[in-house]
Order: sequence, then structure tokens, then C-alpha cells
Amino acid sequence: MKLPQPKFEGEVSLEKTVKQRRTIRSFRSQPLTLAQYSQLLWAAQGVTDDRGWKRAAPSAGALYPMDIYAVVGQDGVESLREGIYHYAPSDHAVSLVSDGDFRNKLAAASLSQMWMAAAPLNIVITAEYERIAVKYGRRGERYAMMESGHIAQNIFLQSEALGLGAGIVGAFDDEAVNRLMKIPQSHQPLLILPVGYKK
Ligand SMILES: Cc1cc2nc3c(=O)[nH]c(=O)nc-3n(C[C@H](O)[C@H](O)[C@H](O)COP(=O)(O)O)c2cc1C
Repeated sequence: MKLPQPKFEGEVSLEKTVKQRRTIRSFRSQPLTLAQYSQLLWAAQGVTDDRGWKRAAPSAGALYPMDIYAVVGQDGVESLREGIYHYAPSDHAVSLVSDGDFRNKLAAASLSQMWMAAAPLNIVITAEYERIAVKYGRRGERYAMMESGHIAQNIFLQSEALGLGAGIVGAFDDEAVNRLMKIPQSHQPLLILPVGYKK
């Protein structure tokens, strides 16, 4: 499913988003719009250069070993059914991986941080180390972890700019997250960002 075009100008200054950013752990049940959803995925890994290659966050050797998955809750995003979606940067589109509301299971797999389940959207950042090991060997793992931090900060700041808030979760059971999300075993989850309207 093709997403709406992201906007390249907002109403809040970058400085304000940096000043305001906090880890948010309490969300209203209000759904996000499809435009907000599109904007958040674009800020995470959208293609930002005219040649269609480079992306919103830096990547060692421009090898882009990361994937973005969106865990959308019931009534989490307007006009989108609940499920787990995979983001395709080159098409700015999402495809459904699994049907259903997986937020409770995701929170349970994250050391039972059940506050995550109240967020309409949880963005999962994964790395496929093989894509970067080709050039950097074991050091590629370190680079992928750094890259996930860049992506996370983009999601944080974009959330603030949209009047939303984001949390960040690194404490989860990798195997359990992979299993419940039905993502390839080669995709290692590194960070989860719950996003929604702040309570
Ligand atoms: C790599 C990483 C992992 C984190 N994991 C969690 C987590 O599992 N649960 C949680 O509630 N907060 C988590 N946090 C958020 C930190 O607790 C938070 O960033 C810190 O308290 C500073 O607060 P601030 O982000 O509001 O400035 C994580 C932060 C980072 C950078």
C-alpha cells in the first residue's frame, strides 16, 4: 500500500523538537492519521535524495542494513487495519506481514512493559548484519547499532514536530519479538519506539 507523500516542511522548529523531546510512556487512545504514519516512517528510513538511494538517517558505506516494521494497533492508524507492516523505503509503501493487534504480545515480550500496548503505533527497528558484514565484517554490527540510534532520534524528533510523543525500548527478548512478528530470523530487532498522542 502506497503511503501519502511526506511533507518537507513543518510548523515546529528543529530546536523546539530537540528541547521538548522526552521518552513518553503514557499515550491517549486517539488514532494517528495516515499522513502522520507516513511522515514517521519517512523520517525513520525514507529516501531523501533525488537519485532514490540515500535515506533520512546516515548509514555506514550507504549499505542500509536496517528494516522498519510498524506494529499498528486496533484503531491505531486511520484507514489502516491492525497488523504488522513492513516499510519499503524505495516505494514509500507498506506491506502487511501479519494481521491482528500484536501490541500486548509485543509489550509482554519487552519485559512486560505494558505501557507500550497503549501506544497506537510501535515502530520496530531491525538490522540484517549480513548486508553490512560484506564490507565491514564484525565491525558492521557496531555500525548497525549506531545506525539504529540515528533512526530512533529521527522518529523522536518527527513525533514532536507532529504534536506526538515517542518512547524508546531496548529491553526485550529478541527471540520472542522475532517470533511474534513473524519477521525473518536474519532481521535482529534493536529498538522499539511506541508513538502516539501524549496523555
Ligand atoms: C538504547 C536505549 C534503550 C532504552 N530502553 C528503554 C526501555 O526498555 N524502557 C524504557 O522505559 N526506557 C528505555 N529507554 C529510555 C531511557 O530510560 C531514557 O532515554 C532516559 O531515562 C532519559 O530520558 P529522556 O529520554 O526522557 O530524555 C532507553 C533508552 C535508550 C537510549
